Amino acid sequence: MKNYITFGSPSIGSEEINAVVKCMKSGWIGTGPQVKKFENNFAKYSKSMYAMAVGSCTAALHLSLNSTELNNGDEVIVPAMTFCSTINSVIHSGYKPVLADVDLHTMNIDPIDIEKKITKKTKALVIVHFAGRPCDMDEILKIVKKYNLILIEDCAHAIESTYKGKHCGTFGLYGCFSFYVTKNLVTAEGGMIISNNKEKVTPIKQRALHGMSKDAWKRFSDNGYKHYDIIDAGFKYNMTDIQASIGLEQLKKIKKHLNIRNKIWNKYQSFFKDYDVISPAKVEKNTIHAKHLYTILIDKKKIGLHRDQFMMKLHKNGIGTGVHYRSIPSHTFYKTKFKWKNSDYKNSSLIGDQTVSLPLSPNLKDSDLDRILSTIEKVLKN
Ligand SMILES: Cc1ncc(COP(=O)(O)O)c(C=O)c1O
Repeated sequence: MKNYITFGSPSIGSEEINAVVKCMKSGWIGTGPQVKKFENNFAKYSKSMYAMAVGSCTAALHLSLNSTELNNGDEVIVPAMTFCSTINSVIHSGYKPVLADVDLHTMNIDPIDIEKKITKKTKALVIVHFAGRPCDMDEILKIVKKYNLILIEDCAHAIESTYKGKHCGTFGLYGCFSFYVTKNLVTAEGGMIISNNKEKVTPIKQRALHGMSKDAWKRFSDNGYKHYDIIDAGFKYNMTDIQASIGLEQLKKIKKHLNIRNKIWNKYQSFFKDYDVISPAKVEKNTIHAKHLYTILIDKKKIGLHRDQFMMKLHKNGIGTGVHYRSIPSHTFYKTKFKWKNSDYKNSSLIGDQTVSLPLSPNLKDSDLDRILSTIEKVLKN
């Protein structure tokens, strides 16, 4: 469709294009010096001691959970409203995912429900800073300490997020980031694990590349061939220099892009004051919200339209939207395997049925935003 506003379109400029061309011409496009530089710059940006670039946030979550080396069947608490890979990485590591409901207001995992789900088998907790809003870290850290849990932060939405001045991803053992095409920093596909625990970092890095001995990527360098040794049973989760070249340029623009998204966010917030839809809660004091998603709740009883009908009307007018997310118990696999029911996770279920994410890309022009708002006005007033 002509002039279609694609949801989550990435903002790629000549800087990223030139960096990729330079990398392609350099003679090395695999995991190498650009990845190392991207890791160093990301560690500096997130004020973490170590950063390891990987192929996706899904890979980052799987590696993190896999590296905790808990016992088969140990329980890991996860939110009931998140992307599937938060849950799947627990399953693929041999542990049992246990769902906690989210808070209706913040849409983040609810600390009160976390505590209700703790048993003798609970060993870890994976939290998601949903949409870029930091979780209630004071309460979560109290629980982590009280029950001696391993904390892993799914920061797929939270590249810029901070809580009381501390970067999200640095509260737990590992922080896992996504650079997927719709994210705040894109490398087409890509992810990063950050950590402040040296002992836990080296094995994870090796496990990301087959379990090869350190710096295996150097084996074809101009220092001559080097044998590698397999010291662990690993995965193939490494990032390439082509992806890292894009990431390095995107990281330089991270503040500029957040400022643009902040302006769009504020326009949406003042627009929705006049409508009977639930818009995002105020940003909590002493936090930075990464403004990854702008989500509203469409209640059929109030609006006369189901969320899916609302989305279809926008689509017919050339506006793409998204759903983040249908609740985890809504999906066939989890329903069948774990017998999870939506009625046990009331907030996740309500959000999953009513939520819609509106375009928030830094690519949006003023005229695009005017078109989005006037179309929504027409749809809601009919
Ligand atoms: C909360 C959350 N976790 C994990 C992921 C997985 O990220 P990736 O696509 O980089 O594997 C996503 C992606 O949308 C996500 O939203």
